[in-house]
Amino acid sequence: MIRIRELRKSFGALEVLKGIDLAVEWGEVVCVIGPSGSGKSTLLRCVNLLEEPTAGSVTVGGAEVTDPDVDIDRVRRRIGMVFQAFNLFPHLTALENLTIAQRRVLRRDKAEAVRIGRDTLRRVGLTGKEAAYPAQLSGGQQQRVAIARALAMDPELMLFDEPTSALDPELVGDVLAVMRALADEGMTMLVVTHEMSFAREVADRVVFMDDGVIVEEGGPEQVVAAPRHPRTRAFLTRVLDPAAARVVPDDGSRDARSGR
Ligand SMILES: Nc1ncnc2c1ncn2[C@@H]1O[C@H](COP(=O)(O)OP(=O)(O)OP(=O)(O)O)[C@@H](O)[C@H]1O
Ligand SMILES: [Mg+2]
Repeated sequence: MIRIRELRKSFGALEVLKGIDLAVEWGEVVCVIGPSGSGKSTLLRCVNLLEEPTAGSVTVGGAEVTDPDVDIDRVRRRIGMVFQAFNLFPHLTALENLTIAQRRVLRRDKAEAVRIGRDTLRRVGLTGKEAAYPAQLSGGQQQRVAIARALAMDPELMLFDEPTSALDPELVGDVLAVMRALADEGMTMLVVTHEMSFAREVADRVVFMDDGVIVEEGGPEQVVAAPRHPRTRAFLTRVLDPAAARVVPDDGSRDARSGR
């Protein structure tokens, strides 16, 4: 489904991806873990060309997105993307958030878009919330609307970039449950996450990135439970050890980064 070869990405003098090789097979769930600033989001964004790679190639479902002649809109139609921030239209209801792209991009008629929209909201456990505006929904519900919006477009591949990082802890579970069900249904998923239990239980493969390279890759029972590389071990200790997490707030490094 995805083939990434020798992918490099620089922002000016800063090389963020330093030669990434990664394949994701149809129906596979691959979780990407790694420290803040290691290039995880950039990697994901190169898959649907939200970032233009500096070198290397990326193919999605056989289409080379790095080919200058590619019809990128057509490729993007096959890919659903869910970000940390939900990016819903605030002035549209949950159902309207789901129907607008179906109508504009897929040219579905209103009745069909509404039917699929309702079905998809049901899939993510939001029956009864069709008429609610985003501000009337919890963060977890908003994120499930965002997932449903992507699913209503019938994607072949879903990209998730830390979909639960902005949520209060008690809301994380509902979103992960939706993602787990999607994985069980056979959706191909590339997921950047800090949820190690999700990676351990749902991922077919886990990729640990650090400083723009893939340091370690393998089944979760290896990478998460018995990492071989010292950098993977150090990262997991930081993430899994609550005492370490308390002294290094999750968003501290992000603030430092945005100040650069
Ligand atoms: N548009 C941009 N312009 C310049 N630098 C950028 C841009 N986007 C990302 N970077 C830099 O690239 C590096 C990798 O960023 P990226 O967002 O991919 O990291 P990440 O692994 O997703 O981190 P986090 O876990 O905090 O989300 C960082 O040093 C960041 O500052
Ligand atoms: Mg990121």
